Amino acid sequence: MKIITVLGARPQFIKAAPVSRELRKIHTELIIHTGQHYDANMSDIFFEELEIPKPDFHLGVGSGNHGKQTGEMLAKIEEILVDEKPDYLLVYGDTNSTLAGALAASKLHIPVIHIEAGLRSFNKKMPEEINRIMTDHVSDLLFCPTKTAVKNLENENILENVFNVGDVMYDAVDYNLKLAEDKSEILEKEKLTTKEYYLITVHRAENTDDHDKMKNVIDAFTRIKGDKVWPIHPRTRKVIEDQGFDLKEVPGLHVIDPVGYLDMLTLEQNARKIITDSGGVQKEAYFMQIPCITMREQTEWVETLEGNANILVGTDPEKIVSAVEKTVTPIYQDLFGDGKASVHISEMIR
Ligand code: UD1
Ligand code: UDP
Repeated sequence: MKIITVLGARPQFIKAAPVSRELRKIHTELIIHTGQHYDANMSDIFFEELEIPKPDFHLGVGSGNHGKQTGEMLAKIEEILVDEKPDYLLVYGDTNSTLAGALAASKLHIPVIHIEAGLRSFNKKMPEEINRIMTDHVSDLLFCPTKTAVKNLENENILENVFNVGDVMYDAVDYNLKLAEDKSEILEKEKLTTKEYYLITVHRAENTDDHDKMKNVIDAFTRIKGDKVWPIHPRTRKVIEDQGFDLKEVPGLHVIDPVGYLDMLTLEQNARKIITDSGGVQKEAYFMQIPCITMREQTEWVETLEGNANILVGTDPEKIVSAVEKTVTPIYQDLFGDGKASVHISEMIR
């Protein structure tokens, strides 16, 4: 099969690493990079480190409001699809790049493959929720990471060509964890001691774009004792600068630029706990059995909440601090597949 994959944002590069490796054993794949993420440490570093094939097309769309960003991608992807006439278009997750790819292809009657289909937060204020619902409803092959995702699709009457193959991010962790142990020097570089620091990530628009929520989150970080390392997303760095939040006031805080995947896995694996609003990071915490505290009101990854592995706290500083201080002995289950989701996907496409 000739497949065109559309990528644009950091988590999609990571998901594509195992999938492209498998796809290319039996299919022909071309990659379109929309340019949604463009800083070297949000994009190039992943292509180099994870040996993701170089994009065949780079759209250079960059940042912008949702309409402009998605619209520009849509027009440019359509042109490529008309020229290339692939058998399938493949997208991951729930970003604006996902939606643009899915819409462009479905209007041209090119079947759409959606990896990480069926996730729902049931919060339509999230741009990701709109992107996922729209993408699932125009997709022809829907690869779900969990049973819950299959159920969510059933509830929306999407019943055909839905497969629970497991999570491709699990494949990525499985493949790279040993490499990370061998190669990453981030703990030495940041002078961090195993299990004596917390790892923080914050980038969700519902948090960063609300001054009070950001203030609460930073207040909570001020009250959490000990070392905290925060590889900061460019969106969040901009908000912090624009709004004049002073992170120097937060004791023990190491604010660092976004890191590559191997450094990130190392930071996750050695953290005492992880405090995040990221979708991918919640799952990686689960895979590596690191207690997670999620600063959101809902999560799509509901199964991680069982057994105290992940605690949803929103942005109330009291709740964040007490979840961080609470002693937990989480129970983990095998919920995300057999680490071969990418193999199953490639074979099922065939
Ligand atoms: C996007 C996705 C989100 C995903 C996240 C992964 C949408 C609607 N959101 O959010 O679902 O969780 O990626 O990280 O698609 N910026 C830079 N350099 C970059 C990229 C972004 O400076 O390389 C800054 C710009 O100021 C930009 C802002 O970050 O305006 C937001 O970027 P954008 O891609 O629109 O959304 P994310 O918050 O990254
Ligand atoms: N990640 C990374 N470096 C960082 C922060 C995150 O490599 O500095 C990885 C992380 O390990 C996970 C993915 O990026 O695999 C998650 O992406 P992000 O949090 O940006 O988006 P989300 O998953 O919420 O859509």
